[in-house]
Amino acid sequence: MCTGRIEPEFIIKAFKSGADGVLILGCHPGDCHYKEGNYKALRRFHLLRKVLIQFGIEEERLKLDWVSASEADKFVNVVNEMVETVKKLGPLKKESFVA
Ligand code: FES
Repeated sequence: MCTGRIEPEFIIKAFKSGADGVLILGCHPGDCHYKEGNYKALRRFHLLRKVLIQFGIEEERLKLDWVSASEADKFVNVVNEMVETVKKLGPLKKESFVA
């Protein structure tokens, strides 16, 4: 619904469940329907990236970008870039999330 609703646990769960990368796309700053959801997401994104690095997960595996509903070309480009990034990195090492 809004990037501000994305809890860090959701992202960690995605990686633990086998995702090789996570792409978060939100409304442009200033355009969030809930006013500040994307700013909240941005703060969490920076913190979570640092945590993921501690787990040995490359920071490129988590990406945040802003794309409006009217930016189909940008959406395609961002998704394709993320796919290429993850392909270059290869599969996430299973031992990254040993509990
Ligand atoms: S509605 Fe909050 S980021 Fe889009």
